[in-house]
Amino acid sequence: MNLFTWRVFDYAACMRRIDLIEPFRVMQLLERAKELEAEGRRIIHMEIGEPDFPTPATVIAAAKAALDSGDNFYTPSTGNPVLQKALSRWYMDEYNVDIKPERILITPGTSGAFSLIYSALLDAGESILLPDPGYPCQRNFIRLAGGEPLNIPVGPETRYHLSTELIGQHWQSGTRAAVVINPSNPTGTLIADATLESIAHTCRKLGGYLISDEIYHGLTYGSKARCALEFDDQAIVVNGFSKRWAMTGWRIGWIVVPDELIDACRRVMQNIFIAAPTLSQYAAIAALKESASCESMRLAYDARRRLLLAELPKLGFEIVVQPQGAFYIYANVAAITDDSKTFCWDMLEKAGVAITPGEDFGSYKSAQHVRFSYATGLDDIREGLSRLKAALHKET
Ligand SMILES: Cc1ncc(COP(=O)(O)O)c(C=O)c1O
Repeated sequence: MNLFTWRVFDYAACMRRIDLIEPFRVMQLLERAKELEAEGRRIIHMEIGEPDFPTPATVIAAAKAALDSGDNFYTPSTGNPVLQKALSRWYMDEYNVDIKPERILITPGTSGAFSLIYSALLDAGESILLPDPGYPCQRNFIRLAGGEPLNIPVGPETRYHLSTELIGQHWQSGTRAAVVINPSNPTGTLIADATLESIAHTCRKLGGYLISDEIYHGLTYGSKARCALEFDDQAIVVNGFSKRWAMTGWRIGWIVVPDELIDACRRVMQNIFIAAPTLSQYAAIAALKESASCESMRLAYDARRRLLLAELPKLGFEIVVQPQGAFYIYANVAAITDDSKTFCWDMLEKAGVAITPGEDFGSYKSAQHVRFSYATGLDDIREGLSRLKAALHKET
């Protein structure tokens, strides 16, 4: 049998692409939590990664003014040039990097940026290196673009990030890029600056790109997260307004690409989205000028993080690497259970506390881990901790 006939009968090759797309499992947990709430129970939500703060008032005011102005029409596919220029200035102010506005494409959320870049970058069967655990939608975006996600197990020894060594070991002839989520979802850990720098150079040397997901920049507690563009002008950087500016429902983000990818991304953008939402682009221009309310949100997240870091270990949740960003804590539950999924469902039913099982973020040691989101108020976090303590029969 020659290679061609073998491929025809290859089971994986015969599977339909959609069969490879996994559901976001935490949504099932959330649905059950909502059912329990409908029955009158109070549920403490520490499962969802969505800011619990309102969008800053100045942003809402700018969107209202834009709505009243009547400008509700398509912008250019690459975005409102005013927003592109504002972001270019923001890169200079925030990271001291000079990025020309044409390299910044405005997208419907960071999610839009990912479908854009993987569609532009990947041919059938080409691959992208991803950290496992990592943000789960990534692998599905890659599959939808006909590519192959290569999920690389990462642990505390690399702060749950890819390293130069891991990239060297797993890079294949059809690999186009490696992804860093910094700070990470689900672990909240920052990549070391030197590692980010060496990864950027390694990807270039191997003939590919570093893709840096920087959606949690601005939500760090201690050291500031570095932008991949500080180390490699050709890195692909994805960011958005959902988290730092509490704008999840506005569906607005952006991507910075090297010159050689602008045209491909523009063509994909024109066809899939036409353009990002016009009103949200006006709101985004205002968001870039907002700093006071972002800082008060950051301080509130930090207080919650400190409380959880102090209390969770007393209940048996081991936090191996201190999370310094995002609003997540990834805890090892091996001392409590060997099945984090059943544990999370039990905690929801028995204690009314919703947390996310590790399986949502990959398969590497996922049964030993859970993710706590602290995008929920301090009072609720205190209540959640005391319910967990009662459920686990622990004394603190
Ligand atoms: C790491 C990471 N990247 C991207 C996204 C997508 O964000 P959005 O599409 O709202 O910009 C999320 C959302 O939770 C995330 O955690």
